[in-house]
Parts: sequence; C-alpha cells; structure tokens
Amino acid sequence: MQAKNIAVIGSGRIGRAWAIVFAKSGSNVKIHDASKEMLAGAIPSIRDSLQDFASFGLLEESVDTIVSRITACESLADALADADLVQENIAEVVDAKRALFIELDRLTKPDALLASSTSGLPASAFTQDIEGRARCLVAHPVNPPSLVPLVELCGAPWTAPETIERARAIYEQAGQKPVTVNREISGFLLNRLQGALLDEALSLYEQGYASAADLDTVIRDGLAMRWSFMGPFETIDLNAPGGVADYAARYGGTYRAIASGRKPFDWPADTLGKLDAERRAALPRDQIEERSRWRDRRLMALLAHRRDVEDGEA
Ligand SMILES: NC(=O)c1ccc[n+]([C@@H]2O[C@H](COP(=O)([O-])OP(=O)(O)OC[C@H]3O[C@@H](n4cnc5c(N)ncnc54)[C@H](O)[C@@H]3O)[C@@H](O)[C@H]2O)c1
Repeated sequence: MQAKNIAVIGSGRIGRAWAIVFAKSGSNVKIHDASKEMLAGAIPSIRDSLQDFASFGLLEESVDTIVSRITACESLADALADADLVQENIAEVVDAKRALFIELDRLTKPDALLASSTSGLPASAFTQDIEGRARCLVAHPVNPPSLVPLVELCGAPWTAPETIERARAIYEQAGQKPVTVNREISGFLLNRLQGALLDEALSLYEQGYASAADLDTVIRDGLAMRWSFMGPFETIDLNAPGGVADYAARYGGTYRAIASGRKPFDWPADTLGKLDAERRAALPRDQIEERSRWRDRRLMALLAHRRDVEDGEA
C-alpha cells in the first residue's frame, strides 16, 4: 500500500530524512516547520543528502525527480490538506506534541494516519483527548531513517488494529522495516536493548575493566559484525550445533551468573565526565559534525553492499 501524499511536520534532522524516504519511494511530500529558517534550509539540505545517495548508487531516479516531489509549506493547513499519512517530527516536548496532534486531527482527512517520530513518549501521552485518536500511533525511526530502515510502530490502547496494519504496509512500501510493539513500554524495543547494552558497557568502563576505545572495538569488530545482518536470537541459534535450546543448555549458567552479579547502573556524573574526556581526546567537539557525515557515508556504503548481497541471493 503506497501513501500517495505524505505530510512531514518538523523539518529538523528526522523530518528531512523522512522526506527523503517517502519522496525516494514515489510519494508526494509536503514538509512544514514552525521555523521559517528551518523550512527554508530543508530542501537544499535534502538535495545535498540525495547527491550523496546518488554517489553510492542508491537512487533509481535522478536527484531532481525525487526533489520535485517535495514541497515546503509555510502553512500547516496546506501541508496537511491532502495527506494520507502525517509524520510528526517536532521537538520532544509532550505539551507541544499534544497541541499539534489536536491540529493534525482537525486539519486532515478522517482516514489519514497520524504518526509521531517520538523517541520516548508513548502515543497515549499526547493523543488521549483527540476525537480521531484511533488513527494515531508512534512510528519511531532510527537516526536517520533514510539510512537505517527500522521503524517501531506502537499504538496507544485506543489505536485501532487497522491503523497499525495500514501503517506497516505504508512503511514497508516506502522501503522501511517496520516492527510492531504490541503494547506501550518506555523506550519501545530498540532503546531498551540499546539501554541494556549501554548500562553494561558504562559499568564495565566505570569499574576499569577496559578503555572506552576497547569497549567500542568489542562491539564494532565483534558483536556488530553478525548483528549487521542477523539479530541476537538467530546469532545464538547458530552458535551451538543443536540451536538455541542447546546454546541455553551450554551457556545459560554463565549468563545467569553474570546477571546475578549485575547491579543497577545509574549513570554517575564522574564516569560520564571521564568518558567524555576520552571521547573528546579521540574526536574534538568541533569535528563531531564532520564525523557524523562520515558515519552517514559508511551507512550508505553498507546499504549498497546489503542491496547487492540481497540481489545476489534473490
Ligand atoms: N535525533 C534523533 O536521533 C531521533 C531519533 C528518533 C526519533 N527522534 C524524534 O524525532 C523528533 C524530532 O527530532 P529531531 O532530532 O529531528 O529534532 P530537531 O530539533 O532537529 O527538529 C525539530 C524541528 O521541529 C520544529 N518544530 C518545533 N515545534 C514545532 C511545531 N509546533 N510545528 C512545526 N515545527 C515545529 C523545529 O523548528 C525543528 O526544526 C523528536 O520527537 C525526537 O524524539 C529523534
């Protein structure tokens, strides 16, 4: 199912990346921002990103064709008028989202889906008093959604099951990989998993078991090699000849012993200060922006590689 018309509200990092996702997959995109300056910068910055996509062979059409599907709208009502799906990407402030969702409900067609990119707010926190709340959901992306396909779909208790089904089909058609979070939970899935890993990495760092650089190496050159194409369950299923049950029989005791010695970790300021000093020595603050662009180019190369491998397997 393709959504013909998409409204992207909020044109910061995430909004711009969503505009790329939808325009690249053939939808018309209207993008709006409360800040005229941000809105004016959106299409030039999207064009620059798309040039990078083109240089990695990731576009099936010209940059001009894709950009021609995107319109910057100074008026919220104009952006929403014909939308089949609204992707909200404004600041992570619950009152601002609540006020905006009232407007989204008022200014859109009754069957339009209203999705929030929120990283941490459940849909129930900002859609409760809305008449059309059955069509509201969270569609939580990873930064940037144009390069990392996962999107977590999570409804409030009053979200209609068909809202999730329709959203799944739309994001899939747009080239994303939607997963459904069956009921609301703080952090959804990705940030809970990332949080568990960060707690342990920081705790090991605090206790002096390894440097920050070596802990990054453990993930980059160890766990993440497999994780870039399979999840932790499939990983352990292949790590014992009898699969996951065999793995649990062999190594479950070790993991239970590790877990029983683990204390809750509360992100102490001195540990974070030490980590920050180590990271700033490796990457001065004024080089973070450039390194982020490098990260995006690496993600593009990885996407191109994955596409080639998947084409070869098809
Ligand atoms: N940055 C990330 O890594 C990331 C990842 C996943 C989800 N998110 C979520 O996406 C959303 C946007 O994050 P971001 O990093 O793009 O923020 P950002 O600060 O880069 O952009 C937010 C934009 O929203 C605009 N805005 C604020 N209030 C508005 C309103 N009422 N109407 C229209 N525009 C408004 C601002 O002018 C700004 O341009 C947040 O909810 C965030 O939690 C962020």
